[in-house]
Amino acid sequence: MKWVKTSVKDFLASLGNPISYGGSHKIFENPSCKDTVIKIGKEVLKHASVFKNNEDFCPILYKIVDCGNVNENYIIIEKLYCDKAKKDVKNLFKDVKWRNYSWFDYFDLQRYTDLKEHINKKYLPLFERIREIVLAIKMSDISPDNFGYDINGKLKALDL
Ligand SMILES: Nc1ncnc2c1ncn2[C@@H]1O[C@H](COP(=O)(O)OP(=O)(O)OP(=O)(O)O)[C@@H](O)[C@H]1O
Ligand SMILES: [Mg+2]
Repeated sequence: MKWVKTSVKDFLASLGNPISYGGSHKIFENPSCKDTVIKIGKEVLKHASVFKNNEDFCPILYKIVDCGNVNENYIIIEKLYCDKAKKDVKNLFKDVKWRNYSWFDYFDLQRYTDLKEHINKKYLPLFERIREIVLAIKMSDISPDNFGYDINGKLKALDL
């Protein structure tokens, strides 16, 4: 039998439609492992370098394919459950937003402590977990679309 080496391009084309996407990245199901996803896009190598050292705060990184072409580089990472995370974080932000909250407040302990006293107590664990993530990975794109839960219900950041 003749062995045909599949190019990265052919492999990516074989994945079909993305299951999700944002402004600069696409997420595909991984046909060989349903607990992981394939992420393509201009910042995947940067994401990989942060994910690699922050498994507690970001998707677990399983593979980096750097073919020197920004359109074909991809990573294989832990699949997160984003729908519920998006809803939960949205509700928290709704509660916090009208107090002129900004992402900068995560870094300012006094401001963060003040805010904590005003938001609904039911959101505190989520608010604290987000602060932990933001400080650990210096996350700046803190939006509901950029979080997901892992299989154990632990909140993680999927974007920086
Ligand atoms: N590990 C993952 N598991 C499951 N879905 C994911 C994962 N990572 C990303 N996604 C989905 O893909 C979407 C886009 O991912 P990401 O935010 O990394 O891309 P982006 O192009 O940087 O988005 P934007 O520029 O809009 O912030 C996420 O909102 C989420 O729905
Ligand atoms: Mg994003």
